Amino acid sequence: MKAITYHQFGNTDVLQTVEESLPTIQANQVLIKVKAVSINPLDWKIRKGEMKLMSGSKFPKHTGVDFAGIIEETGASVTRFQKGDEVFGVVKNTMKEGALTEYIAVPATTIWQKPSHITYAQAASIAVVGAAAITAIQKMGNINAQSNILVNGATGGVGMFLLQLLTPRAASITAVTSTHAMDFAKKWGANIVVDYTKQHVLQQKNNYDIIIDLSGKMGYANARKIMKPQSLFLNPVPKPIEIPASLIKNVFTGKKHVVILSNPSSKNMDMLLNAINTGLQIEVNKTFPFAQYKEAYLYAEKGGYTGKVVIEFNEASTHNS
Ligand SMILES: NC(=O)c1ccc[n+]([C@@H]2O[C@H](COP(=O)([O-])OP(=O)(O)OC[C@H]3O[C@@H](n4cnc5c(N)ncnc54)[C@H](OP(=O)(O)O)[C@@H]3O)[C@@H](O)[C@H]2O)c1
Repeated sequence: MKAITYHQFGNTDVLQTVEESLPTIQANQVLIKVKAVSINPLDWKIRKGEMKLMSGSKFPKHTGVDFAGIIEETGASVTRFQKGDEVFGVVKNTMKEGALTEYIAVPATTIWQKPSHITYAQAASIAVVGAAAITAIQKMGNINAQSNILVNGATGGVGMFLLQLLTPRAASITAVTSTHAMDFAKKWGANIVVDYTKQHVLQQKNNYDIIIDLSGKMGYANARKIMKPQSLFLNPVPKPIEIPASLIKNVFTGKKHVVILSNPSSKNMDMLLNAINTGLQIEVNKTFPFAQYKEAYLYAEKGGYTGKVVIEFNEASTHNS
């Protein structure tokens, strides 16, 4: 079977197609014929060597963590799934494993049934970013109509889920995005939309109860300037030092700095699936066939799109404008 690997850290040039033998499954695992893999910033951060502390420096490495596909075989102790089920999921160890391969063996605990009304590309776009959005909402605590929330980088993968999950909670949501995505931000529930290419977010007159920085470009030190005295900064892209440092600093300040780690637990995925089955939209901006995986990564890494970019097996390219 074909798989994508790399033998050194670097740009898309280091990615290569290799032939590997079909994985064998253990009793708790399933073998999945992969139909789609969505791209996450995590993929290229690992490939560029930006996460060596967690990914290690051992090669070859595989890439891609979010997938959807069809079950080919189930292990002896797997009871929740059977051959032929359409599923989506995430690799167990996102730092060391990769899903961009024709077949993948994963524990049955890291997959879920694909809702029948969505495509494989949409299903492959759920687990990592959806779970990050759910985790963010859990960290936010009690949100009500008085809560003033700023989502910086609001129309990428996590933002797409977060805006739609926040909307029923009636908070006031300011979305920061670029010009092309302003209509999406409004459609997904933002009350105020700020175009970061025209206005600097720190010029906002508002003071916020909660800021979440999905762009990774604002940072806690800047965010503090537009936070209320008792408030929360949620950070899904912490530098390693920020994880222990924020815990200590939080004891002495009302402007808390909290790190988010995506948790695709069954409970969180059930909440997401409930939202998806009752209307949450999953925007796939562009799909690429497997043979064009390098073009897919180049496109995704450049940015400037809304929602997700997906690589599909046996499919032609599609593009939503
Ligand atoms: N901790 C965790 O467990 C976890 C889980 C999931 C994701 N993450 C991280 O969270 C971040 C967001 O993930 P994602 O999948 O949503 O990424 P994404 O799809 O790339 O979204 C990031 C968004 O930020 C916007 N942006 C870029 N520059 C900006 C600026 N100066 N001001 C405001 N917005 C700006 C981009 O818009 P344009 O492209 O239009 O410029 C893009 O829509 C990534 O760094 C990812 O690695 C962490």
